[in-house]
Amino acid sequence: MAMNWTEAQINQVVTSVLNQLGHAGDAPKAKTYNATSYEGRAFVGVYSDMKDAIAAAEAGYKAIRSMSVAEREKLITRIREKTREEAAIMAYLGVAETKMGRVDHKTAKHILVADKTPGTEDITSYAKTGDFGLTLVEMAPFGVVGAITPSTNPSETVICNSMGMIAAGNGVVFNPHPGAIATSNYAVDLVNRACYEAGGPKVLVASVEKPTLETADVMYKHPSIRLLVCTGGPGGVKSVLSSGKKAIGAGAGNPPVIVDDTADIEKAGKDIIDGCTFDNNLPCIAEKEVFAFANIADRLMASMKQNGAYQITSEQAEALAKVVLVEKINPKTGIAQKTISRDAVGRDAKVLLAKIGVTVGDDVRCIICETDFNHPFVQEELMMPILPIVRVRDIDEAIDLACKAEGGRRHTAHMHSKNVDHLSRFARAVETTIFVKNAPSYAGIGFGGEGHTTFTIAGPTGEGITSAKSFTRLRRCVMVDNFRII
Ligand code: COA
Repeated sequence: MAMNWTEAQINQVVTSVLNQLGHAGDAPKAKTYNATSYEGRAFVGVYSDMKDAIAAAEAGYKAIRSMSVAEREKLITRIREKTREEAAIMAYLGVAETKMGRVDHKTAKHILVADKTPGTEDITSYAKTGDFGLTLVEMAPFGVVGAITPSTNPSETVICNSMGMIAAGNGVVFNPHPGAIATSNYAVDLVNRACYEAGGPKVLVASVEKPTLETADVMYKHPSIRLLVCTGGPGGVKSVLSSGKKAIGAGAGNPPVIVDDTADIEKAGKDIIDGCTFDNNLPCIAEKEVFAFANIADRLMASMKQNGAYQITSEQAEALAKVVLVEKINPKTGIAQKTISRDAVGRDAKVLLAKIGVTVGDDVRCIICETDFNHPFVQEELMMPILPIVRVRDIDEAIDLACKAEGGRRHTAHMHSKNVDHLSRFARAVETTIFVKNAPSYAGIGFGGEGHTTFTIAGPTGEGITSAKSFTRLRRCVMVDNFRII
């Protein structure tokens, strides 16, 4: 499906999905849901004991070992279909359970996952022939993968991970974020229902009713888990990397944007607001702070305001900072440090403004403010639709400050410019996994940009935009003196 996801087109897709589901104009309202059921239907693949979840996923893995690649691809096709059909339900559940994000954008994110997550075509083999015969290298499954998933993109990550991991021939056990258990377990159940309908085992992916750090630890240490994948904050990534097993880590970013004076300023303003407000800034690739050349900064902010941004004064920014950033004692050091308030992450701009006594309509989707580089809005990854704008003299200052704000996480950065030297210099300096030029951030995960999608962007461990092949191990088979036919 060719996609060019402008705001209007996202709305169009969402409306059409809701119509298909018979929920014109509104998302389906779940009457009852919890960690183990939705509207009275018990989830398949959700266990009270992590060891039982691992055993079930292992049995599922053994069952798909005897399936052909074409049969495995049928499982993936059915997961795609069901994800499209139930996108709006999961979007609604995600917002209801976590209080973060937007139903319309979450619906679009699920459809993106259904459309643009690679399947078995991603698994390729390599042959080398020569004087000594033939060597074949194939991408084999690990077995059972243990996956940590976040509250920010919960069901999107479960489904995207499942598709890639199953396409690679694995079973999967999830330890979802405790703040998004029902939504994540709904997705686990969906994957199992889809696979079973398409000829797969009853359970291929599994999860637990009450995921905790203890259940995560059982998963890390269990001998049947051969690969760990963490999509989440720095703590989770560190813990999988310390497990002594092969691990893929996808952590947080703080993506900066540079806008120079050669850019199409009106388009840059709109693109930045579209990207920054997507699912209320929850995707880790979303624009988090802007470095604008001083001679175009006013025009840029005017364009942002024409596209749904509300500009606050520096006094209002101070008041807002007190609400969205709270002091927390670091249990390890005993020192108080600023951290984002859980009650502000992923909230609508209008809700955040109301906290400082400003009333606006639904047309306001982003809060912008001019700050200096040291402002906490620049330094902290907020994950909410608040966008600080810092004026810079020239490209040297822009690159220097943007790299510092990115903080060496090497996650994502953006730039609006028509100067190829500027674009190349920033891309080289910032060294991020994703670099988006002249488009909203979501183009970097395939929304209106070329390339496949994922919500597991593995910067720290280097797999990048993960897909089925990231969840495989390479095996070599050598035949000496034969099978070379020339
Ligand atoms: N399984 C088990 N425990 C988990 C878990 C998982 N998958 N994910 C998090 N936890 C634990 C945390 O370690 C923490 O435990 P602690 O209180 O003992 O330290 C607890 O659950 C709460 O999680 P945390 O995410 O830190 O707090 P929160 O729910 O209040 O905050 C966010 C929500 C979104 C602010 C927070 O998750 C965050 O900042 N995430 C970083 C960004 C991110 O996840 N990006 C996603 C990359 S795609």
